[in-house]
Amino acid sequence: MTDIFNFFTTQSNSPLDELDLEVLKNRELRVFMKRDDLLHPHISGNKWRKLKYNLIEARSQGQQQLLTFGGTYSNHIAATAAAGKEFGFKTIGVIRGERVEPLNPTLAFAERQGMRLEFVDRTTYRKRTAPEFLSSLRKMFGAFHHLPEGGTNQLATRGTGEIIKELNEQLPQPISHICISCGTGGTIAGIINESDPQTKVLGFSVLKGDFLKTEIDNLLEAPKENWSLLSDYHFGGYAKWDKQLIQFMNDFRYNHSISLDPIYTGKMMYGIFDLIEKDFFKPGSNITIIHTGGLQGIGGFNERFGDLIDV
Ligand SMILES: Cc1ncc(COP(=O)(O)O)c(C=O)c1O
Repeated sequence: MTDIFNFFTTQSNSPLDELDLEVLKNRELRVFMKRDDLLHPHISGNKWRKLKYNLIEARSQGQQQLLTFGGTYSNHIAATAAAGKEFGFKTIGVIRGERVEPLNPTLAFAERQGMRLEFVDRTTYRKRTAPEFLSSLRKMFGAFHHLPEGGTNQLATRGTGEIIKELNEQLPQPISHICISCGTGGTIAGIINESDPQTKVLGFSVLKGDFLKTEIDNLLEAPKENWSLLSDYHFGGYAKWDKQLIQFMNDFRYNHSISLDPIYTGKMMYGIFDLIEKDFFKPGSNITIIHTGGLQGIGGFNERFGDLIDV
């Protein structure tokens, strides 16, 4: 069984790539990408960051089980299942919706890692943060370390905040903008907490609606002004997409040998390039993008929609 503390502390920093494109040179922009997608084959991207202190805490409390929540294609479910196998925790995934056979690639992977999948209807799923519901789950399954949906809690934001320290060591010049894709807001909250007030933190929301801004505010250690949430690049909402997005992602992979996922990083990158073309960033800007992983989702997407995304 892998030692959690060693795993997370001896791992070297994720690499930082610079994108080389005429469009950037013409506008005097430098664009870097922090490759958290390369941290681990299965516990990668923001999941690696968010699970780190949660797993250390669970082990130090002597917990034997992790219980978490997610949709049927959840990156977090896949990563938690893999982490359970790697570090010797039993894992329980409470999944929104009905069990459909054969399981999609995400859930099939989670089960292969040993995760017990409990399917609940949407009404029950909505109770996922209610203390009574969590205690009924404890009666059913015994004690567990609770990882909320998307893995977002204070221990998770502590982990994502560490990206800033790594970037400061890796980057040749101060960061003017950091770009992050946002679902529950946990990843960006940790980054905002640790960010320099001169850096503008830009969140690209994958969800429709304005509620996410309040959620992020609630996750911050202290109020901060140096961030904003962009809501123009969700393509109609979570899991919605169009052909232009897929074409963009395939071209990006071809040009840079970097894969993007269709739910989070693909939409963010599309948005960043749109903003570059609209001269949103001033000449001299250093735009640093966090690749938060999620590439396991491509299998399920291609299975549903017909091999649209190049792999
Ligand atoms: C690949 C990927 N990127 C970004 C996000 C957004 O992270 P957060 O939910 O912390 O806002 C998620 C979801 O957790 C994700 O799976």
